[in-house]
Amino acid sequence: MILQEISCSIKETKKNQWLFQIPAVNQLIKEGLRFQKPITFFVGENGSGKSTIVEAVAESYGLDAHGGRGGRKYVNDRPKTPLGACLKLKGIHLSHYLKHRKGYFLRAETAFGYMSFVSGMPGYWKENIQEMSHGEGFLTVLETMFHEPGLYLLDEPEAALSFQSCLRLITLFQQIIKSGGQVICATHSPLLTAFPNADIFELNDGGVNKVTWQDLALVDHWRRFLDNPSTYFTHLLSTAEEDGHD
Ligand SMILES: Nc1ncnc2c1ncn2[C@@H]1O[C@H](COP(=O)(O)OP(=O)(O)O)[C@@H](O)[C@H]1O
Ligand SMILES: [Mg+2]
Repeated sequence: MILQEISCSIKETKKNQWLFQIPAVNQLIKEGLRFQKPITFFVGENGSGKSTIVEAVAESYGLDAHGGRGGRKYVNDRPKTPLGACLKLKGIHLSHYLKHRKGYFLRAETAFGYMSFVSGMPGYWKENIQEMSHGEGFLTVLETMFHEPGLYLLDEPEAALSFQSCLRLITLFQQIIKSGGQVICATHSPLLTAFPNADIFELNDGGVNKVTWQDLALVDHWRRFLDNPSTYFTHLLSTAEEDGHD
């Protein structure tokens, strides 16, 4: 395990009151968060704070919050994100990894532009990912970058991936873990979160809590939807119609 705990200085965070308005981030600031497995998922509705937390961990680890690999020579001089500026990382072997900043941060929103920019640069992939589909480009990047033990942070990596490509990503996760690396991943994917023996944190109005895959709201929604899409939609659309007449 590279990263075992994150915590925050409440005093420093107070300058940014909006952080306290996100229940999961509020709880993290007050209680910290412990990582006990080499793979951890953050799951929750849009706006629940997943990216805020993953970006802050990336920054504190020395990775660009916009995505990219660690240890690059042209590390940006952008100001840190408000949570990144006050987050403290703990781990027995963390200092070794921090020194070399071994790892990669894949942020779905900005990944493709960034990946095109660094294609062909030393330490990156040689393939021209602009000649590939979005998903193929992602997988190329992940396969090239996931080859050494390090901290791998991913923000919704499934966005560009097909079902089969998600399965490929699962095997890459296994490779990282076997090599002694660690994965922290924000996701909406019921497939990725089913990775055996992972820790799953669910972010919602109640804060951030560890849950089993079976108990995830996301899994429950997908299960009910796949069981009977037409009933699901009939209910959804009739409710929407009623709301429209209000
Ligand atoms: N700089 C900021 N100032 C105020 N609110 C912000 C800022 N950045 C993010 N937020 C808010 O924080 C909430 C959580 O965002 P985010 O972490 O991106 O959610 P998620 O990744 O779970 O969808 C959102 O409601 C967003 O509008
Ligand atoms: Mg997000």
